[in-house]
Amino acid sequence: MNKTPIIAGVDVGTGFVKAIIVQKEPEEKRFKVLGKDENISSGVRKGVVVDPDRVGKIIQETLAEAKRESGHEVDEVYANINGIHLFSLSSKGLISVSRADQEIAQEDVDRVIEAAKTFSLPANKEILQIFPREFIIDRQRGIKNPIGLQGVRLETEIVAVGGFSSYSRNLSQAILNANLQVSDLILDPIATASSVLTLKDKEEGVLVIDFGAATTGISVYEEGDLLHTAVLPMGANNIRNDIAIGLRVDTETAEFVKNKFGSCILGPKTTKKEKLKLSSGEEISFQRNEIRKIAEPRINEILGEVEKELKKISKNKLLPGGVVLTGGGAKIPHLVEFTKKRLELPCRIGMPRRFFPLEEDPSLSTLCGLVLCGMEIEEEEEGKINFKGILTRIKKLFQVFLP
Ligand SMILES: Nc1ncnc2c1ncn2[C@@H]1O[C@H](COP(=O)(O)OP(=O)(O)OP(=O)(O)O)[C@@H](O)[C@H]1O
Ligand SMILES: [Mg+2]
Repeated sequence: MNKTPIIAGVDVGTGFVKAIIVQKEPEEKRFKVLGKDENISSGVRKGVVVDPDRVGKIIQETLAEAKRESGHEVDEVYANINGIHLFSLSSKGLISVSRADQEIAQEDVDRVIEAAKTFSLPANKEILQIFPREFIIDRQRGIKNPIGLQGVRLETEIVAVGGFSSYSRNLSQAILNANLQVSDLILDPIATASSVLTLKDKEEGVLVIDFGAATTGISVYEEGDLLHTAVLPMGANNIRNDIAIGLRVDTETAEFVKNKFGSCILGPKTTKKEKLKLSSGEEISFQRNEIRKIAEPRINEILGEVEKELKKISKNKLLPGGVVLTGGGAKIPHLVEFTKKRLELPCRIGMPRRFFPLEEDPSLSTLCGLVLCGMEIEEEEEGKINFKGILTRIKKLFQVFLP
């Protein structure tokens, strides 16, 4: 029997570092989870690695447990680049087809994408990945794969996603510090989207909101392709901190209150009183409505920022596929109904479903997305996906740092 490859991913989050080792089932679109572990993160600020030594240790520890469980040796991983430094912009390119018989080749595709990349970037920022939205041959629009078609004039519209190079370097360094190689770095919102969206969602037009600990990642897809992505500097920890300040308790207690009484954040209004004994022996009491008054404005603020991103691309209230909510913060009870009302779009929770045996959990979306993207990259390399140009790999930017 043909052995399918084993792939490992590490989600370096602000709240948690998670690792997974999977193997694709032969001839199936399912993944067997061989090992998985997660630990509380440290040295990551708003999605960005600020202390590669500390993060390296946590990655090493987390992957070691996943490896032990799987019984497999793993020495390279796919990991996620996250942070508010990520930006996306659209651009166009135009070239003349080079071959005398006018048949479009990979080389023409590479050239037209290169032509679309001629925009100026602020210092220290660089393009990490290019997503061609469509190709246009002699004014004929909507072509996804132009190779083998004939034409004189080849145009493309791309979405380019970039960020600060030093942040990606810190992440690579943390992985190297864990005695691992970087299989590739994957944009966090892209990894997340790949595990919660179907092709149908992407065709219809959909928004993914990854409600993490300290960041909220968004990605918008339309007609099958990425249209926009951004990372906002707020997440579920902001709600925890608001509760800590509002109830005058430490952040650990506030986290407990947030998760235990989560349903009063957005649930039905009630003046019911709750009592809670703290580890110090002190007892606190609060009305359930108090939690709502503290947390609801913050959620409104975050969704307001998401709405601004939709307005930037003129897609506010205009995505038939609706909103897919994911990330640990998506577990806040009633958030689906609240988002539906606030953004005036259909809304559902998204979580990875093609992995077994694995609990269906929205906080695992990015982690599972990393190995899905990894599998796609490896299949492209093996020639199983015959049109390249979609997945320009990020790793090449960091080869210089690899031993
Ligand atoms: N049941 C729950 N109710 C409310 N919030 C929850 C629940 N479970 C987890 N969370 C929150 O989810 C967050 C962690 O989510 P996740 O693991 O997606 O974050 P992360 O990937 O580490 O962070 P980031 O993506 O911002 O770097 C924490 O802030 C945690 O409080
Ligand atoms: Mg995350």
